[in-house]
Amino acid sequence: MKRCKIGILTGGGDCAGLNPAVKWAVKTALDARLAAERETRYEILGIRNGWEGLMYMDPAFPMDPHHVVPLNEELVRTWDRYGGTNLGTSRANPYNPKHDLSRTVLQNIESLGLDSLIVIGGEDTLGVASRLSREGVSVVGIPKTIDKDLPGTDYTLGFETALNVIVECVDRLRTTAGSHRRIFVVETMGRYAGWLALEGGESSGAYIILIPEYDFSIERVNDLILEGNRSGARYEIVIVAEGAKPAGGAEFIRDNRVDSFGHHALGGVGEFVARSIQDATGLETRSMTLSHLQRGGVPCAYDRRMGRYFGIAAVDLVVQEEFGKMVAYRSGRITAIPIEEALGSPHLVDIETQYDTARYNGRRTILSHCR
Ligand code: F6P
Repeated sequence: MKRCKIGILTGGGDCAGLNPAVKWAVKTALDARLAAERETRYEILGIRNGWEGLMYMDPAFPMDPHHVVPLNEELVRTWDRYGGTNLGTSRANPYNPKHDLSRTVLQNIESLGLDSLIVIGGEDTLGVASRLSREGVSVVGIPKTIDKDLPGTDYTLGFETALNVIVECVDRLRTTAGSHRRIFVVETMGRYAGWLALEGGESSGAYIILIPEYDFSIERVNDLILEGNRSGARYEIVIVAEGAKPAGGAEFIRDNRVDSFGHHALGGVGEFVARSIQDATGLETRSMTLSHLQRGGVPCAYDRRMGRYFGIAAVDLVVQEEFGKMVAYRSGRITAIPIEEALGSPHLVDIETQYDTARYNGRRTILSHCR
């Protein structure tokens, strides 16, 4: 029987759904019945901490447990119940122009004897996968990011769990906001795309939703708050994506350092909006940044299921030797697309059809063209 070795890694920001994907890739690769049908026995190695595992392992000691872990069905049996990633992750970039370790990664893929590599990540991690693929590595991708902004797929792992966190937090804030007659501004993640803020706001019934795709007027926000107050609202919930900005202003940057892919950490727009509302309306206003709470916790049912389907489909691509592709969810079906397609411009909220620019909220008509 033919033998093949698969490597699997998770890179970039963690989220719920990664462990289910790894579990089901392992189970599908190692399944004895499928092995007989395929006439191939697969082995699967977990690479620790994203690309770091392949950048920093010692080729003379390739099975160093700090960097590599052999995976089997017993080990991953319960993984689908856990959030984060048991393989660990990092934002390390082998193609970092300041310290390029891409040659080392290629050598280490060889020293481990990997025939293929399953890469679970967002834009940055998959960008590295795509470059390695062009250098001849047999790569397959699985999309993840709580921002759900990768083009080419309608779903990215982690999004629905993060949405559930937003809804739960807003539900909790409502009781205290109502008791004290306060306005609460909730800052969600969402660097370029407002999906978390928009769908989180729609799911939790937020009064105002501010997204990166549409620069807001703070005067309009204040007017809407006063309008709500006049009509008797005891409190309001405002949701703002970290990447949202006032018209004529810039994104709010939390600190000036950049990661190895050149990204600044965003944050602060929620506090800005809260202060502006309080100053302009005199209504007591607090802000709350949900931050990494959105990435934490156990995967919801949807992320367990999508992780499972994506993990299985990734192994199908390996078996069929369809490399350079990423599994994707499109129009209700699991399919595959070239990894490059997921690296184009981010998939953003369509302002024309999905956002109400007058009320700064979700659309109020779905089947007709007028709002
Ligand atoms: O990768 C998506 C994301 O959730 C963004 O929305 C956010 O800007 C970023 O991760 C924050 O990541 P970290 O603080 O872990 O580097």
